[in-house]
Formats: sequence, structure tokens, C-alpha cells
Amino acid sequence: GAAVEVDISSLKEGEKLTVEWRGKPVWIIKRTAEQLKELPSLDAELADPKSQRHPEEFTPVYAQNEARSIKPEVLVVVGICTHLGCSPTDKFHAGPQPSLPNDWKGGFLCPCHGSTFDMAGRVFKNKPAPDNLQVPPHMYLSDTKILIG
Ligand code: FES
Repeated sequence: GAAVEVDISSLKEGEKLTVEWRGKPVWIIKRTAEQLKELPSLDAELADPKSQRHPEEFTPVYAQNEARSIKPEVLVVVGICTHLGCSPTDKFHAGPQPSLPNDWKGGFLCPCHGSTFDMAGRVFKNKPAPDNLQVPPHMYLSDTKILIG
């Protein structure tokens, strides 16, 4: 399929941009320093904290790190739940929210069967989704231009 070029120069902290790649939504999210700081503290609650499952499909080598990204602040993931393919909803803000734990640190909630993902797209334990959200193959063409695919 055709690769997609995305200009992220106007993407601000805490914002999400959605582009289509191979008929799928790809989210590009600029995370805050606070969101990045929370990631290591969640490892014990996650099904695959180090993204070691099916790396060839879900996490390219350059994203096998705590932030699951090339640039720590910029997350690039396919916005499709790894359970049965619904599209999770943004739940970026910390604190009590319907259907989420009181100590929620931000991430995504799948409306279909309740799988939850953190701000790196890592799935929480004991949820129907078996895998972290897919990081699609991508690279930086410049500081603010990403090529997906
Ligand atoms: Fe997301 Fe089932 S499709 S939890």
C-alpha cells in the first residue's frame, strides 16, 4: 500500500492527529512530559510492558522502548483495538472517569469490551485485547515530517 506523509509541525502537546493508512486510522499524539513520566510506573499493570510480543507485527525495533516511539514525545499507533477491531476512545486526562480506575493516568478505552491502553498504546492486564496497539512502520523525513508505511 501507499505510504503516507504527515506534517506534524502544528501538532501541539496533548493533541492527536488522525491520518488514514491502508484504510486504517493512524494516530499521532504529542505526549506531555508528565504523560511520559508515568509510563515506567505502569509496567506491572500491563500485559506486555516491553512490547516483546509479535514485534514484527506490533512493535518495530525502533519503537521497542518505554515510550514505544522514535521521538519520545511523539506516539504513532494504529487506532484499532487488537481484540476485535473497534476504535478506542481518547481518555488522555488523568483522574476519575467513567469505566476507568481512579488512578487512571491517561490513555485509551475501547468501548466494545472495555480494553484499556496507556499513553504508549500498551494494553492493561486482564483485558480482552491480547496485544498493544500496533506501531506502524514509519520514519522521520525531517524533524516535523513522518512517513508512515
Ligand atoms: Fe476492543 Fe473488544 S474490540 S475490547
